[in-house]
Formats: sequence, structure tokens, C-alpha cells
Amino acid sequence: MATPFIQMQGIVKRFPGVIANDQVDLTIYPGEIHALLGENGSGKSTLMSVLDGLYQPNAGRIIIDGEEHKFGSPRDAIACGIGMIHQHFKLVEPFTVAENITMGAKNGDFWLSTEKIKQEIIGFGAKYGLHVNPNAYVWQLSVGEKQRVEILRILYQGSRLLIMDEPTAVLTPPETAELFSNLRRMTEQGCAVIFITHKLNEVMELADRVTVLRAGRVTGSMERSQLNPNQLVQLMVGRDLAGRSKPIQTELGPVVLNVDQIEVLNDMGRLGLRALSLSLREGEILGLAGVTGNGQRELAEAICGLRHIEKGSIHLHGEDITNLNPSAILDQGVSYVPEDRLGMGLVPDLTIIENLLLKNYQQPKYSGRWLLHAKAIEENAAALVEKYNVKTPSLHQPVKILSGGNLQRLLLAREIATIPRLMIVVYPARGLDIGATNDIHQLLLDLKANHTAILLISEDLDELVALSDRIGVLFDGRLAGEFPANEVDLDELGLLMAGSGQTNGGEPNAI
Ligand SMILES: Nc1ncnc2c1ncn2[C@@H]1O[C@H](COP(=O)(O)OP(=O)(O)OP(=O)(O)O)[C@@H](O)[C@H]1O
Ligand SMILES: [Mg+2]
Repeated sequence: MATPFIQMQGIVKRFPGVIANDQVDLTIYPGEIHALLGENGSGKSTLMSVLDGLYQPNAGRIIIDGEEHKFGSPRDAIACGIGMIHQHFKLVEPFTVAENITMGAKNGDFWLSTEKIKQEIIGFGAKYGLHVNPNAYVWQLSVGEKQRVEILRILYQGSRLLIMDEPTAVLTPPETAELFSNLRRMTEQGCAVIFITHKLNEVMELADRVTVLRAGRVTGSMERSQLNPNQLVQLMVGRDLAGRSKPIQTELGPVVLNVDQIEVLNDMGRLGLRALSLSLREGEILGLAGVTGNGQRELAEAICGLRHIEKGSIHLHGEDITNLNPSAILDQGVSYVPEDRLGMGLVPDLTIIENLLLKNYQQPKYSGRWLLHAKAIEENAAALVEKYNVKTPSLHQPVKILSGGNLQRLLLAREIATIPRLMIVVYPARGLDIGATNDIHQLLLDLKANHTAILLISEDLDELVALSDRIGVLFDGRLAGEFPANEVDLDELGLLMAGSGQTNGGEPNAI
């Protein structure tokens, strides 16, 4: 076998109350695609942040091309050709794509002529199939586009190792296929890739080698050909998993949500929803499939009062809530779990207790005349953390230190605790490990059984089919077709997602 490009040996990384990495060894060869697997909180992101120079390990060595290196910061890692794309993107929203790409670059590059930089970016884009508009502002981009900017930023820095933390969690199936072929193109040119994923089919499809972590330790490291998915689950969770949750038949109640012919603008000032109508009943899960950027965010935000409705109306239990302010809408029992958990859902620097309180502070139980009732608040937080199995060393930690899966559990815990009448969830299982995905699905089914109406926006067709009563497809701000979930034809759904195919007659935009 070739000489290793990178060897991590005996890496130990401790945080207060947690050993995130415990004597971890990891070897990376040039030109390989190496998958890093493990449950939420098993230490994957931490290990990669050590390799990226963001964290200094408590013990262990990093050897690159046979020579030991100590990284004081990501800049040192970049100098060794290592670049990482984090689970939560680190782009500067008010800056343009071109500015973001050059910001991390070597000294001096910042002063290159803008025109030259733009040409370079377009050149890189063409080489790897990563198309972005260098003049666009990052805040205008969809999540998938932001990821492309991140990859370009790393390539622009001249990396030989690209670390991607759950890159496909934010991508649609066609985008994932495209990413995989781009990654292969990079490895053919000698670049190595480490990618973290929770999706076993991706490991089987893409990885040359796999390393599995459990509770901070390596439980296996092998060639892909030596593995099967069941073994991987065993290595990750240490046992076999129970099967998927099955929805129980619930009696549907009266209409909770009625969206009638609404039009809203997207961030670019163009029509993001075009005369879109839908309705949703108590105890019903309406699944919306579609490629990100086809109106998902606009729809969720319009319902919650976060985006102005230009035309049309929205009724909740028969009451007009069109363009009410968001807190008035949330007060009526609407709950929103957005795609961007740390941006909109949770406040990164506040503690777990504070984040859990964000929606409940006006309740008399928690706020007295003069002060918040600290004890009741803390007890409530402890109960939620226990019930929803959020792994954290303490309730007083800022939520930004939680692993991706635990963040999602915390957010859902807070939202479910309000027993919403209408719940809007966007990509609920994104970034969750197999066990956590099962848990979250079960939570949604429990809510359904409790008569909550649920609008489930997802790109994961398996998830939509498993949970929904009906499935509609969002394309270009319209609803393109609807199916009862038990009669769904995945091929037809795929065609509608891609913008071709027939709507189901009658009123094309209403379901
Ligand atoms: N900055 C930090 N301070 C304190 N604890 C941390 C910090 N970062 C991570 N941890 C803890 O270290 C452990 C490993 O977390 P890490 O984010 O590496 O897990 P992960 O495998 O990436 O999980 P996920 O799949 O959910 O992203 C967790 O218990 C987490 O709470
Ligand atoms: Mg992680």
C-alpha cells in the first residue's frame, strides 16, 4: 500500500465532563475517500476539528507525509493542505461569494483584482462541476449553494485533503450524485477526502475505506469491501436496531390550516410561491417533497408570519392569520422547526436552559411578577433533556457545543413540549444517526396521534412515505401533484420534483 498521507495517532480530546476522542488512530492515504461513521456525539466532528487545527488535542500526534506537525490554528492545517467544511457553515452572510472564497486564502490574495478572482472561481466551478455566481451574496443562497461555496473556498486554498462533515445531509439525491462525482474527480487528481455521514448506502457507494467511532473510540477501521451495512450498524451502536416506526391510522379531524392561493417573494425579490394552496387537518401529516429552493422555506415562513404575503390568505382554525406578526401566530399553537437549526431555531451562545425557555417565558409557571422562577425553569429543562434523550454534560452549557443530533433533539423537545396545533418541520432527520432518526420519527407520529396537524417538508422520500398521509411535490413555488402516501409512485414523484410530469388534473395548485 502507498505511504500514508496523514496519520493521527492516539488522539485524546477532552471537554469538561466528556472525553470526545479517546486514543483515536486514523490513517488517510492519498487519493482515497475515507468515510467516518458513528452515532450522534461519538466524536467525529471533534476528531476532524483536531485534524483541522481548530482544537488542540490533549494527547496524540498528527503526522503528515511522515513528519509530525502541531497545529495552533486552522491556518496551520491549511498550510499542510488540509481544509474542512464544518457541519454548520462558516460563511459570512453579508459578503459575496467571491469575498467569502478569498477571505481564507493565503496572504496577499485578498488584494488580487476582483475580476481575476471571479474568473478563477468560475474556472474552479467548471473543473469540478461546482457552479456558483461569484457576485451573489451568501445570504441569498440556498443551503446547497452555500456548500458549493465552502468547497470552492477549500479548493481555492490549495487543499490536498478535503474534510466534509455530513455534506449530503443538506443535499437532494441528484445533488448528492453530483457531489460524489465531483469528489471522485478530486481524488483522481490525488486529493484525499474524509466524509462524515449517517447514511450507510453512501458509505457502500462511495468510500474506499471506513472508520467507525463509538463513544469517542474507534470500533473498526477497514476496507469497504470487507463490510456490509449490518456490520456497520453493529460497530456504530453496538447492537442491532429495531425496525422503522409505522404510523398508526388516526381519525382525521377538522381542517387546521388552510392556505389559499398565496404569493410571496423570495430573498431575490422574485416570486417564491405562485398561487399556492393547501389544506391540512387535525392528526394529518402532509408531506411535501421537492428539491431545496423550490419554495420550501418561503412556505414555512409565510405560514409563521416571517415572510410577507403579497396575495392570498392563510387561515388557522378558520381564523385569518395572513400577515399577522410571528409571535401572534406562534401564540395560536403554531410551531416551526426550521432547516437552519442554529440560525433560526436555537441561539448558539445561550445555555440549554435558556434555549428551552425561549418559547415559554410568558407562562405564569415560569415568570412571576418580578423575576423568572429559576427552579421551575431548571426542573422543566431537566425533564425535557431526559425525556428526549439529549446528551449533554450539563444544562448550563451553551447549545453550540452540542452535537448535531442532540441539537435537533433539543429543538424538537422544546417545540413538542408546547403541544402545538400545527407543526411545521423542515428536514427533521437531517444529520441524525439511525437510532435518533427512528426516535424523531416516533415523536412526530406521537404528535400526530395527539391530533397535531403536521406539515412535513423533506427531501428524503423514504421518510415522506413512512410518515405522511398525503404527499405533495413543491416545484418552482407551486404544488405539482399530490398522492395518498400508500399509493405513491416514487418514479412519478421524482419526475415531478425535477419539474416534468403531469399534475393530477383538476386544480393543479391545490391539494
Ligand atoms: N466545544 C465543546 N465543548 C464541550 N463539549 C463538546 C464540544 N464539542 C463537542 N463536545 C462534546 O463532545 C462529544 C462529541 O461531539 P461531536 O460533535 O464530536 O460528535 P459527532 O460524532 O460529530 O456527533 P453528530 O453526529 O451528532 O454530529 C459530545 O458529547 C459533545 O457534546
Ligand atoms: Mg458532528
